[in-house]
This record gives sequence, structure tokens and C-alpha cells, in this order.
Amino acid sequence: MKPFLCVYGHTNLDYIMSLKHFPELNTSVNIQEKKRYFGGTGANVATMAASLGVPTALCSYVGPDFPEEFRSLMAEKRVDLRDLVTVEDQESATVWIISDEEHNQIAYVHQGPMAKMESMPLRLDAARESQRVHIMTGRPPYYLEVIKACRQLGKVIGFDPSQEIHNVWNADMFNEALSMSGMLFANENELRTALRYAGKKKAEDLLEQVPIVVNTLGAKGSVIYTKGGMIDVPAAKAGAIVDTTGAGDAFRAGFYAGLYRERSLRDCAKLGAATSSFVIEKRGSLTNIPSWDRVEERAKAIG
Ligand SMILES: Nc1ncnc2c1ncn2[C@@H]1O[C@H](COP(=O)(O)OP(=O)(O)OP(=O)(O)O)[C@@H](O)[C@H]1O
Ligand SMILES: [Mg+2]
Repeated sequence: MKPFLCVYGHTNLDYIMSLKHFPELNTSVNIQEKKRYFGGTGANVATMAASLGVPTALCSYVGPDFPEEFRSLMAEKRVDLRDLVTVEDQESATVWIISDEEHNQIAYVHQGPMAKMESMPLRLDAARESQRVHIMTGRPPYYLEVIKACRQLGKVIGFDPSQEIHNVWNADMFNEALSMSGMLFANENELRTALRYAGKKKAEDLLEQVPIVVNTLGAKGSVIYTKGGMIDVPAAKAGAIVDTTGAGDAFRAGFYAGLYRERSLRDCAKLGAATSSFVIEKRGSLTNIPSWDRVEERAKAIG
């Protein structure tokens, strides 16, 4: 089956660890809890979108150490993995997130093969067959080439640099990507940086460069800006709020599940909110993946 959506972004192993106090330099300390989770922006969106019935492909780079368990989780959810590339002599992107008792946090990030994307040939096999291409974290020079190629092929680009908007993209590259995109996705902070790069004051002003802006606002829900007006959608009610990591990625998956089924933008935002409300109930981004039925039910409850 041809994909509807092709997602470009990270596929990560996330190690979440806790300790009492951060150690002094040149000493050692015992970790109290340690658990490995599967994550990464690209893998999160692709796996959840596929679980919601959207034919989805993932383009990402991993090393030969990539766990079979992670690959089979994505394969079981029917993610098209033809463009999940294994790069020899590289270890898969890994993030170690360590917190102490006072909730201070240090994250160590190993980019692995994702840092070297632009030295590799463009992968466009799945994107060529897709209707929509979603661009997340990774190397801007590589993505600008992907965006140009996909644009020429008539694909609609969802531009979603996520937290890398602040430190990996710059104004020139951002504006170039934005003006070729059909939608910009950003959370509250990311939108602020987007406005600074674009030299604009308000989200509406970005509509001179891109037709749709999807702005998520954490517990406050989301706002979609279009030339036809603004659509304001509250968050969905979660069973519990345990860990909001991955809420943004889940939102995107639900949103695309709506686009795939040709729902209105308001419904897409509700489906996004509903999908995130499941993910925040458990620790890890891919540990509480909801079914389409449950997402629709919670989306309807938003009203
Ligand atoms: N505390 C919450 N309660 C209910 N829903 C939430 C909560 N936090 C986030 N969400 C839902 O998730 C969506 C995305 O959240 P947010 O704007 O925080 O994204 P983000 O900052 O990109 O998240 P991430 O940590 O995944 O990068 C929100 O629009 C909302 O629907
Ligand atoms: Mg995010």
C-alpha cells in the first residue's frame, strides 16, 4: 500500500534515569531507577499515526545496534520502514535523561547517524509515493533538499522542526523551508522563535508565508491559524497526567489521522488532543498508543 504520510525525524533510544543528587566531578554515583524507552520525533509520529490507521512511512537513520524489538514494534503497527536506513559504524541516536530528587535534569544527547544526514544520499522512495511529507528534527541542509524535491512532486509539506528550531535552524534556513511548506507545527516556545526568524509579531502574520499554522499550547490545547480564521480547540481530558513527553508528537499523529479521513481542521485538532491525552497517561512516548476508536471517543468528548 502506498503511504499517505512520510515522516522524517529522529528514531531514538531514550534512557530515563533518576538519582538522589548529581555527583561531583571525578566521582561515581548509583542510579536509583533506569528504564529504556523507544522514542524520537520521527518514530513517535510515524508509529502512532500508523496505529491510528494512517498508511505511514518513516525516514530516519539508525546504527547496526538498533534494537530488533523497536523495529518490530514499528513493523507490527505497519510503519513502512523502507527508508529507515542502517548506517554502518554508527550507534543509533540515544538520549540519557537524568533527574535528581529535586527534579533538576541533565540530558546527554548522542546524535549518531542523524548528525551525518547531509553526507548521505537523499532518501525519497516513500516520500515520492506519499501525499504528505512531515519534516521534524534532523539536519536542515538535508531537509531543505527533501522539501524542494517533494514540493516539485506536489507533496504537501508539514514543517515541524520541534525543539531544534531554537538551536539547529536559523532564520534563513527556516524562512526558506517555511515558504515551501503547507503547514507549520509549533508549540508555544517554538512559535516565538518562528516569529523572530520570520520577523513577524503574531502567528497570523506567518500566514503570509505558509497557509496553515498549528500551534499547540500544552494543557491549554491548540490553536490553528488559517486565512479563513482561527480555530481554538481545548485539550482532551486524560485519565492521569504522568509524563507529558511525546504529547506534541502524539498530537501530530492524531491530527494526520484526521487529515487522512478528510475531517475538518477543527476535528483534526480534537483528534490530536485526544491522542496526546493517552500518551501523557504513561511514562514514555510509545508505551500507551491508543486505538483509533478510543481516540475518536475522546475527541468527541471535547464537544
Ligand atoms: N497537561 C496536559 N493535559 C492535557 N493535554 C495535554 C497536556 N499537555 C499537553 N497536552 C496535549 O498535547 C498537545 C501538545 O502539547 P504541547 O503543546 O505541550 O507540545 P510539545 O511541547 O511539543 O510537547 P513535547 O513535550 O512532546 O515536545 C496539546 O495541544 C494538548 O492537546
Ligand atoms: Mg514537541
